[in-house]
Amino acid sequence: MSTHELYTEAVGEPNWQVPSASSARLSWEYDDGRDRLLALYQKGKDKQWDGAKRIDWDLEVDPYDPLGTPDESMSLYGTPYWAKMTDKDKGELRKHYASWQFSQFLHGEQGAMVCAARIVESVPDLDAKFYSATQTMDEARHAEIYGRFLHEKMGMLYPINDNLQALLGDTLRDSRWDMPYLGMQVLIEGLALAAFGLIRDTTDKPLPKQILAYVMQDEARHVAFGRMALRDYYSQLTDAELREREEFVIEGCYLMRDRLRGVEVLENFGIPKAQAEQYSEESEFLAMFRQLLFSRIVPCVKDIGLWGKRLQQAYVDMGVFEMGNSNLDLLMAQDEEIAEKLDAERFAAEEQARVTEVRDAIRSGEAG
Ligand SMILES: [Fe+2]
Ligand SMILES: [Fe+2]
Repeated sequence: MSTHELYTEAVGEPNWQVPSASSARLSWEYDDGRDRLLALYQKGKDKQWDGAKRIDWDLEVDPYDPLGTPDESMSLYGTPYWAKMTDKDKGELRKHYASWQFSQFLHGEQGAMVCAARIVESVPDLDAKFYSATQTMDEARHAEIYGRFLHEKMGMLYPINDNLQALLGDTLRDSRWDMPYLGMQVLIEGLALAAFGLIRDTTDKPLPKQILAYVMQDEARHVAFGRMALRDYYSQLTDAELREREEFVIEGCYLMRDRLRGVEVLENFGIPKAQAEQYSEESEFLAMFRQLLFSRIVPCVKDIGLWGKRLQQAYVDMGVFEMGNSNLDLLMAQDEEIAEKLDAERFAAEEQARVTEVRDAIRSGEAG
C-alpha cells in the first residue's frame, strides 16, 4: 500500500528538494588512511546485517499498545481529557503517539542516509569517504526496517515534524563539509540514539526491542565516526569558526527540546495547540524524557571541542550540563553488548525449542 494512504495528513509534493552549495571532492591519495578510521571502516563492513533475516517479523504487535507504554508516561495523563477518555480512546492515542515517534525515526534515518552520502561526496579524505559509504548502507537498512514496522505493524505514519525538517534542511544546505556531521551525526542522531535507548530499555514488547537494540548496535559506530572526524578537524579551526559551530549547536538543541514533542498528535485528538503545548510542558514524565534526550549529545559536543562559555551556559539553563561528564565510550560499548546479548538469548531459546522437538519426535517414535 502506498505510504501516502497511511499518512495522518497529506504530505504535499512526493519529493522534498533541498538545494545545496557543497562541493564534491575526490582524493588521489589512496594509501594514507588514519588507522582508527580504517579500523572503523573494517568494522562497518564486518558488522552488516539484514533486517529481513535478523528481525523476527512474525512477532505480533498490538498497534493500540505497541510498546507497553504505562499510562503515567502519556502526556495527557492526569488532565481532564484523560479522565474523559475510554480505553479505546487511550489505545488510539498510544497508536498515534508511537506512529508519530517511529515516523520521526524513519524520516530521520532517511535523512541520515542522505547526510552520510553527502559526506561521501564532500569530505576531503578517502578514509572518511570509505567509512561513510558503509554508514550510508547502515542507514538505508534502518530506514527499511522502520518503514516496514510502520507499514506492517502500525498501519499509520506521520509526516516529518516541521522543526526536524528545518534542522535537516539547514544541515543539508550548508556548504561546509563538516556540517552534515555536526547537524546529523552529533545533533539529530545523538537525540535519536537517546530516544531509541529509552524505548529499548523500557519496552516489554519483543519486536520493537529487537529493532531498537540492533539499530543501536550500528549507531555506536556512527557516533564514533563523527567524534573522530570532528575532533581532528575542530582542533585546527579558529575561535571564530568554533563559535559559529557552537551557535548552530545551541540553536539546534533548543529547537529539538522545545519543538519536537508530538504536539501534533494531541492536535489530532482535538486539543488546541496552546493547550497541547502546555500539557507537554507540564508532564513530569516528558520533562524527564526531554532531559534524558541530551545524554548522548552533551558528552559528544564536549568531546569534539565545542565547549565555549555560551554553549556551557545553554546546557546549564537546560539542566543537562552534568551530562557532559558521562562516559560515551562506555554507553556505546553497552549498546553493542545489549544487541549481542539479545542475539545470544534468542539463539539459545531457538536451540532449546529444537532440542525439545527432536526429543518429542524420538519419544513418539519409541511409543509407536
Ligand atoms: Fe540509523
Ligand atoms: Fe546513524
